[in-house]
Amino acid sequence: MTSVNSDKLSSARFAEATDAFVEVFTASVGFDKRMAQQDIQGSTAHAVMLCACGILTEQERDAIVGGLVQIGEEIASGKFAWSIKQEDVHMNIEARLTDLIGVAGKKLHTGRSRNDQVATDIRLYLRSEIVQITAQITRLQTAILDLAEQNADTIMPGFTHLQVAQPITFGHHLMAWFEMLARDRERLRDCSGRINVMPLGAAALAGTSYPIDRNLTAELLGFSGPSANSLDSVSDRDFAIEFTAAASLIMMHLSRFSEELVLWSSAQFDFIDMPDAFCTGSSIMPQKKNPDVPELVRGKSGRVTGHLMSLLMLMKGQPLAYNKDNQEDKEPLFDTVDTLINCLRAYADMVPHIRAKKENMYGSAKRGFATATDLADYLVRKGMAFRDAHEVVGLAVRLGLASGRDLSELSLVELQQFSVLVAEDVFDYLTLEGSVAARKHVGGTAPDTVRSAIQLARKRLMS
Ligand code: ARG
Repeated sequence: MTSVNSDKLSSARFAEATDAFVEVFTASVGFDKRMAQQDIQGSTAHAVMLCACGILTEQERDAIVGGLVQIGEEIASGKFAWSIKQEDVHMNIEARLTDLIGVAGKKLHTGRSRNDQVATDIRLYLRSEIVQITAQITRLQTAILDLAEQNADTIMPGFTHLQVAQPITFGHHLMAWFEMLARDRERLRDCSGRINVMPLGAAALAGTSYPIDRNLTAELLGFSGPSANSLDSVSDRDFAIEFTAAASLIMMHLSRFSEELVLWSSAQFDFIDMPDAFCTGSSIMPQKKNPDVPELVRGKSGRVTGHLMSLLMLMKGQPLAYNKDNQEDKEPLFDTVDTLINCLRAYADMVPHIRAKKENMYGSAKRGFATATDLADYLVRKGMAFRDAHEVVGLAVRLGLASGRDLSELSLVELQQFSVLVAEDVFDYLTLEGSVAARKHVGGTAPDTVRSAIQLARKRLMS
């Protein structure tokens, strides 16, 4: 008895052909063909292991491995004929293998299932993408360090509530970006460890009755070892969620950087010059230079966080073990990888060309009474209680506001009317330079401290 869908690999049980729309609706090859090389890599290791365990002959193994090499080449050169009749990447490759080598091709699926196969493919795919993503993070961190180095002495206002708070150096501000990315890199490394566990051998859900050697397959594929529970192996997508969570955090960081670049490049702040090559003009307003790249990156961060929510919702209602729902994991995951790599790349290309407008940054810090805390600290050092000093400085700021002057522009006599503790040396503390130079403890904004932090960061990047 032949089946109604004789061109399909899994159809003998059916008396009716698959509905034409259902065939399209359930197919995943349109997107999961992206994992073709990983699928071939997994199948090759599986065949080698089956032979080592006496389940395939050497001839069968060699025919399979040779066929898979050819298929890999057909796919790489764009000659492979993908078909939705074969549903997904796994069945397309297996069907082609059987076309090429005959009956040995039909033996490849011995002791495995698409359920452990797909879980393995995704892990292999993510493992290699994380290497690319980490390389882009390193490029961006290096660009940030270089810009920070050029601006270790550049004074700008630091903000809280987006109101001028205290003077800082631009280099210090940039090093805050560096730290966010350093944590991102750690998170990816940490999640790689959990990705690098091998599901193959779990088969459909219960394992297989063939005498397979999962340690060997794991070793051949560079996994740290086989997974511990077959049911968990085929149904677990925690690793994809974890990765997407790490990606969402990276995108959130890029979005925060973007917000600052957009603000700083506006006429109102005018702190930086954005490279023309990363901006666009307006179709109607000739004067415009819009910071499109940061804006787009800020916009795309929502998309990646959306994918994180999709994956969490995808998993929350699923009983053990594999369910077809899981096929929905790939598009959010692939789009997360693409979006993340593109945004990191755009940033790594753009950051080296950002120029600080040092005078504007300085002028802005000067206008905002940024050294008010320094005056309070000065009075405390002379013996006043901090709360009283806070009050005194408030009065001095009021005088400055009323007369349109910074604290450093008030006269000694004027300052002394608020406290007799004020002496000539007060002006050493009221300057922006004095204020930043005083913050020279670990993690502080003093130019020399920033230079040491940059040096240390360069070493951390190597490790
Ligand atoms: N295309 C499927 C997926 O992406 C592969 C696994 C299918 N397994 C199954 N029993 N239908 O998840």
